[in-house]
Amino acid sequence: MILDGKVTSKALLQEIAQEVGRLTGPTKPKLVAVLVGENPASEIYVARKMKVADELGILSELHRFPAHTEEAFLKEELEKLNQDTSVNAVLVQLPLPKQIHTERVLQTILPEKDVDGFHPINMGQLLLGIEPPALPCTPAGIMKLLDAYKIDVSGLNACVVGRSNIVGKPIMLMLTQRNATVTLCHSKTRNLEAVLESSDLVVAAIGQAHLISGNTLKRGCIVVDVGINRLPSGQLVGDVDFESAREKAAFITPVPGGVGPMTIAMLMMNTLRLHQVQQGIQVKNWLL
Ligand code: GUN
Repeated sequence: MILDGKVTSKALLQEIAQEVGRLTGPTKPKLVAVLVGENPASEIYVARKMKVADELGILSELHRFPAHTEEAFLKEELEKLNQDTSVNAVLVQLPLPKQIHTERVLQTILPEKDVDGFHPINMGQLLLGIEPPALPCTPAGIMKLLDAYKIDVSGLNACVVGRSNIVGKPIMLMLTQRNATVTLCHSKTRNLEAVLESSDLVVAAIGQAHLISGNTLKRGCIVVDVGINRLPSGQLVGDVDFESAREKAAFITPVPGGVGPMTIAMLMMNTLRLHQVQQGIQVKNWLL
Protein backbone atom coordinates (compact mmCIF):
# COMPACT_ATOMS: atom_id res chain seq x y z
CA MET A 1 0.00 0.00 0.00
CA ILE A 2 1.25 3.44 -0.94
CA LEU A 3 1.52 6.01 1.85
CA ASP A 4 0.24 8.95 -0.16
CA GLY A 5 1.68 12.20 1.16
CA LYS A 6 -0.03 14.25 -1.50
CA VAL A 7 -3.55 13.24 -0.53
CA THR A 8 -2.80 13.27 3.21
CA SER A 9 -1.15 16.70 3.13
CA LYS A 10 -4.02 18.12 1.11
CA ALA A 11 -6.53 17.16 3.79
CA LEU A 12 -4.25 18.59 6.46
CA LEU A 13 -3.81 21.86 4.58
CA GLN A 14 -7.58 22.18 4.26
CA GLU A 15 -7.93 21.79 8.03
CA ILE A 16 -5.26 24.41 8.61
CA ALA A 17 -6.88 26.82 6.15
CA GLN A 18 -10.19 26.41 7.97
CA GLU A 19 -8.55 27.11 11.30
CA VAL A 20 -6.81 30.18 9.94
CA GLY A 21 -10.15 31.31 8.52
CA ARG A 22 -11.81 30.94 11.92
CA LEU A 23 -9.27 33.17 13.69
CA THR A 24 -11.04 36.21 15.05
CA GLY A 25 -8.15 37.99 16.74
CA PRO A 26 -6.46 41.14 15.47
CA THR A 27 -3.57 39.30 13.77
CA LYS A 28 -3.07 36.57 11.19
CA PRO A 29 -0.22 34.06 11.50
CA LYS A 30 2.93 35.33 9.80
CA LEU A 31 5.88 33.28 8.61
CA VAL A 32 9.23 34.71 7.53
CA ALA A 33 11.67 32.57 5.55
CA VAL A 34 15.32 33.60 5.39
CA LEU A 35 17.28 32.47 2.36
CA VAL A 36 21.02 33.06 2.06
CA GLY A 37 22.63 32.52 -1.34
CA GLU A 38 21.16 30.84 -4.39
CA ASN A 39 21.14 27.09 -3.78
CA PRO A 40 18.79 25.90 -6.57
CA ALA A 41 17.05 23.25 -4.43
CA SER A 42 16.55 25.76 -1.59
CA GLU A 43 15.08 28.28 -4.04
CA ILE A 44 12.46 25.73 -5.07
CA TYR A 45 11.64 24.65 -1.50
CA VAL A 46 11.30 28.20 -0.20
CA ALA A 47 9.16 29.30 -3.14
CA ARG A 48 6.83 26.37 -2.47
CA LYS A 49 6.61 27.23 1.24
CA MET A 50 5.67 30.83 0.46
CA LYS A 51 3.06 29.75 -2.11
CA VAL A 52 1.36 27.27 0.22
CA ALA A 53 1.32 29.82 3.08
CA ASP A 54 -0.37 32.28 0.75
CA GLU A 55 -3.01 29.74 -0.26
CA LEU A 56 -3.88 29.11 3.40
CA GLY A 57 -4.24 32.76 4.35
CA ILE A 58 -0.98 32.71 6.31
CA LEU A 59 1.05 35.89 5.82
CA SER A 60 4.53 35.20 4.54
CA GLU A 61 7.69 37.06 3.63
CA LEU A 62 10.91 35.93 2.03
CA HIS A 63 14.03 37.72 3.27
CA ARG A 64 16.90 37.12 0.84
CA PHE A 65 20.58 37.73 1.45
CA PRO A 66 23.59 37.25 -0.85
CA ALA A 67 25.83 34.17 -0.57
CA HIS A 68 28.72 36.22 0.91
CA THR A 69 26.59 37.45 3.87
CA GLU A 70 28.50 37.42 7.14
CA GLU A 71 27.25 35.49 10.13
CA ALA A 72 27.13 38.56 12.37
CA PHE A 73 24.96 40.41 9.87
CA LEU A 74 22.58 37.47 9.50
CA LYS A 75 22.22 37.23 13.27
CA GLU A 76 21.37 40.94 13.47
CA GLU A 77 18.64 40.42 10.90
CA LEU A 78 17.25 37.50 12.91
CA GLU A 79 17.30 39.65 16.06
CA LYS A 80 15.11 42.15 14.22
CA LEU A 81 12.63 39.39 13.40
CA ASN A 82 12.70 38.30 17.06
CA GLN A 83 11.75 41.85 18.07
CA ASP A 84 9.04 42.24 15.43
CA THR A 85 5.77 41.28 17.15
CA SER A 86 3.97 40.92 13.81
CA VAL A 87 6.20 37.92 13.01
CA ASN A 88 5.15 34.62 14.61
CA ALA A 89 7.41 32.15 12.86
CA VAL A 90 10.94 32.30 11.47
CA LEU A 91 12.88 29.75 9.45
CA VAL A 92 16.38 29.86 8.03
CA GLN A 93 16.56 27.68 4.95
CA LEU A 94 19.43 25.17 5.14
CA PRO A 95 22.12 24.57 4.04
CA LEU A 96 23.82 27.88 4.77
CA PRO A 97 26.98 29.05 2.97
CA LYS A 98 30.25 27.72 4.43
CA GLN A 99 31.36 30.89 6.24
CA ILE A 100 28.24 30.76 8.43
CA HIS A 101 28.03 28.50 11.49
CA THR A 102 24.61 26.85 11.21
CA GLU A 103 24.05 25.97 14.87
CA ARG A 104 25.01 29.44 16.10
CA VAL A 105 22.57 31.00 13.64
CA LEU A 106 19.73 28.65 14.58
CA GLN A 107 20.26 29.49 18.24
CA THR A 108 19.66 33.15 17.46
CA ILE A 109 16.00 32.56 16.60
CA LEU A 110 13.77 32.87 19.67
CA PRO A 111 12.61 29.36 20.66
CA GLU A 112 8.98 30.56 20.57
CA LYS A 113 9.39 31.67 16.92
CA ASP A 114 11.46 28.66 15.86
CA VAL A 115 9.09 27.14 13.31
CA ASP A 116 11.53 24.35 12.34
CA GLY A 117 11.97 23.22 15.95
CA PHE A 118 15.76 23.32 15.48
CA HIS A 119 16.63 25.53 18.48
CA PRO A 120 18.53 23.56 21.17
CA ILE A 121 15.78 24.34 23.69
CA ASN A 122 13.13 22.86 21.40
CA MET A 123 15.32 19.89 20.46
CA GLY A 124 16.06 19.41 24.18
CA GLN A 125 12.34 19.40 24.99
CA LEU A 126 11.81 16.72 22.35
CA LEU A 127 14.62 14.67 23.88
CA LEU A 128 12.97 14.94 27.29
CA GLY A 129 9.59 13.87 25.95
CA ILE A 130 7.97 17.30 26.21
CA GLU A 131 6.37 18.38 22.94
CA PRO A 132 7.58 21.86 21.93
CA PRO A 133 5.14 24.13 20.02
CA ALA A 134 7.00 23.32 16.80
CA LEU A 135 8.54 19.95 15.96
CA PRO A 136 10.99 19.55 13.06
CA CYS A 137 8.77 19.49 9.97
CA THR A 138 9.98 16.42 8.07
CA PRO A 139 9.93 13.98 11.01
CA ALA A 140 6.64 15.48 12.24
CA GLY A 141 5.24 14.96 8.73
CA ILE A 142 6.32 11.31 8.82
CA MET A 143 4.49 10.77 12.13
CA LYS A 144 1.36 12.46 10.73
CA LEU A 145 1.50 10.28 7.62
CA LEU A 146 1.80 7.09 9.70
CA ASP A 147 -1.12 8.32 11.85
CA ALA A 148 -3.24 8.98 8.77
CA TYR A 149 -2.87 5.31 7.78
CA LYS A 150 -3.49 4.19 11.39
CA ILE A 151 -0.01 2.68 11.68
CA ASP A 152 0.88 2.18 15.33
CA VAL A 153 4.65 2.01 15.81
CA SER A 154 4.51 0.88 19.45
CA GLY A 155 6.77 -2.13 19.95
CA LEU A 156 8.05 -2.14 16.36
CA ASN A 157 11.73 -2.48 15.53
CA ALA A 158 12.46 0.77 13.69
CA CYS A 159 15.63 1.46 11.74
CA VAL A 160 16.47 5.08 11.00
CA VAL A 161 19.20 5.42 8.38
CA GLY A 162 20.90 8.83 8.59
CA ARG A 163 21.76 10.87 11.71
CA SER A 164 21.13 14.45 10.57
CA ASN A 165 19.82 17.06 12.99
CA ILE A 166 16.98 17.80 10.55
CA VAL A 167 15.59 14.28 10.13
CA GLY A 168 17.52 11.33 11.60
CA LYS A 169 17.95 12.46 15.19
CA PRO A 170 14.49 13.99 15.68
CA ILE A 171 12.62 11.06 14.04
CA MET A 172 14.59 8.73 16.32
CA LEU A 173 13.23 10.65 19.32
CA MET A 174 9.65 10.82 18.03
CA LEU A 175 9.55 7.09 17.31
CA THR A 176 11.01 6.39 20.76
CA GLN A 177 8.34 8.60 22.33
CA ARG A 178 5.76 6.46 20.53
CA ASN A 179 7.33 3.29 22.00
CA ALA A 180 9.20 1.96 18.97
CA THR A 181 12.59 0.29 19.50
CA VAL A 182 14.86 2.46 17.39
CA THR A 183 18.25 1.68 15.86
CA LEU A 184 19.99 4.73 14.39
CA CYS A 185 22.25 3.74 11.48
CA HIS A 186 24.63 5.92 9.47
CA SER A 187 27.57 5.89 7.10
CA LYS A 188 29.83 4.06 9.57
CA THR A 189 27.29 1.37 10.52
CA ARG A 190 28.92 -2.02 9.99
CA ASN A 191 26.14 -4.36 9.00
CA LEU A 192 23.23 -2.25 7.85
CA GLU A 193 21.73 -5.23 6.00
CA ALA A 194 21.45 -7.22 9.24
CA VAL A 195 19.62 -4.35 10.93
CA LEU A 196 17.29 -3.88 7.96
CA GLU A 197 16.44 -7.58 7.83
CA SER A 198 14.93 -7.41 11.31
CA SER A 199 13.29 -3.99 10.98
CA ASP A 200 9.50 -3.55 10.91
CA LEU A 201 9.87 0.12 10.00
CA VAL A 202 12.65 1.70 7.94
CA VAL A 203 13.14 5.46 7.68
CA ALA A 204 15.71 6.24 5.00
CA ALA A 205 17.22 9.73 5.24
CA ILE A 206 20.72 9.47 3.84
CA GLY A 207 20.58 11.31 0.53
CA GLN A 208 22.01 8.52 -1.61
CA ALA A 209 19.97 7.27 -4.55
CA HIS A 210 18.70 3.70 -4.21
CA LEU A 211 20.95 2.79 -1.25
CA ILE A 212 18.32 0.40 0.08
CA SER A 213 16.77 -2.28 -2.10
CA GLY A 214 13.96 -4.75 -1.51
CA ASN A 215 16.18 -7.78 -0.94
CA THR A 216 17.47 -6.33 2.36
CA LEU A 217 13.98 -5.57 3.73
CA LYS A 218 11.80 -7.66 6.02
CA ARG A 219 8.60 -8.89 4.36
CA GLY A 220 5.62 -6.80 5.44
CA CYS A 221 7.69 -3.88 6.71
CA ILE A 222 6.87 -0.17 6.49
CA VAL A 223 9.21 1.95 4.38
CA VAL A 224 9.46 5.73 4.69
CA ASP A 225 11.76 7.29 2.11
CA VAL A 226 12.95 10.82 2.93
CA GLY A 227 15.57 10.99 0.16
CA ILE A 228 15.26 13.30 -2.82
CA ASN A 229 18.06 12.52 -5.26
CA ARG A 230 18.37 13.57 -8.87
CA LEU A 231 19.78 10.94 -11.23
CA PRO A 232 21.96 11.98 -14.20
CA SER A 233 18.85 11.34 -16.33
CA GLY A 234 17.07 14.10 -14.41
CA GLN A 235 14.70 11.70 -12.65
CA LEU A 236 13.97 12.31 -8.95
CA VAL A 237 14.39 9.20 -6.81
CA GLY A 238 14.55 8.35 -3.12
CA ASP A 239 17.12 6.53 -0.99
CA VAL A 240 15.11 3.33 -1.51
CA ASP A 241 14.74 1.40 -4.75
CA PHE A 242 10.96 1.75 -4.94
CA GLU A 243 10.24 -1.03 -7.42
CA SER A 244 12.05 -3.78 -5.53
CA ALA A 245 11.04 -2.44 -2.09
CA ARG A 246 7.33 -2.36 -2.89
CA GLU A 247 7.45 -6.13 -3.49
CA LYS A 248 8.49 -6.67 0.14
CA ALA A 249 6.86 -3.79 2.02
CA ALA A 250 3.31 -3.63 3.35
CA PHE A 251 3.44 0.19 3.25
CA ILE A 252 5.81 2.45 1.33
CA THR A 253 6.10 6.17 0.58
CA PRO A 254 6.72 7.21 -3.03
CA VAL A 255 9.28 9.84 -4.11
CA PRO A 256 8.02 12.36 -5.03
CA GLY A 257 4.60 12.54 -3.38
CA GLY A 258 5.44 10.91 -0.04
CA VAL A 259 7.27 12.74 2.73
CA GLY A 260 7.90 15.98 0.78
CA PRO A 261 4.34 17.36 0.76
CA MET A 262 3.92 16.38 4.43
CA THR A 263 6.94 18.50 5.37
CA ILE A 264 5.36 21.65 3.95
CA ALA A 265 2.02 20.90 5.60
CA MET A 266 3.75 20.55 8.97
CA LEU A 267 5.53 23.87 8.45
CA MET A 268 2.11 25.48 8.05
CA MET A 269 0.75 23.67 11.09
CA ASN A 270 3.78 24.83 13.09
CA THR A 271 3.24 28.42 11.98
CA LEU A 272 -0.38 28.27 13.11
CA ARG A 273 0.67 26.73 16.44
CA LEU A 274 3.30 29.36 17.16
CA HIS A 275 0.71 32.04 16.44
CA GLN A 276 -1.72 30.30 18.81
CA VAL A 277 0.85 30.05 21.60
CA GLN A 278 1.85 33.70 21.17
CA GLN A 279 -1.80 34.81 21.19
CA GLY A 280 -2.59 32.71 24.26
CA ILE A 281 -4.94 30.47 22.23
CA GLN A 282 -5.05 26.87 23.37
CA VAL A 283 -3.17 24.51 21.06
CA LYS A 284 -5.02 21.34 20.05
CA ASN A 285 -3.81 18.30 18.16
CA TRP A 286 -0.48 17.63 19.82
CA LEU A 287 1.43 15.08 17.83
CA LEU A 288 3.27 13.00 20.40
N1 GUN B 1 16.65 22.15 4.44
C1 GUN B 1 16.28 20.87 4.27
N2 GUN B 1 15.24 20.58 5.10
C2 GUN B 1 14.97 21.69 5.78
C3 GUN B 1 14.00 22.02 6.78
O1 GUN B 1 13.18 21.21 7.21
N3 GUN B 1 14.04 23.29 7.23
C4 GUN B 1 14.94 24.19 6.79
N4 GUN B 1 14.90 25.41 7.31
N5 GUN B 1 15.84 23.93 5.88
C5 GUN B 1 15.85 22.69 5.37
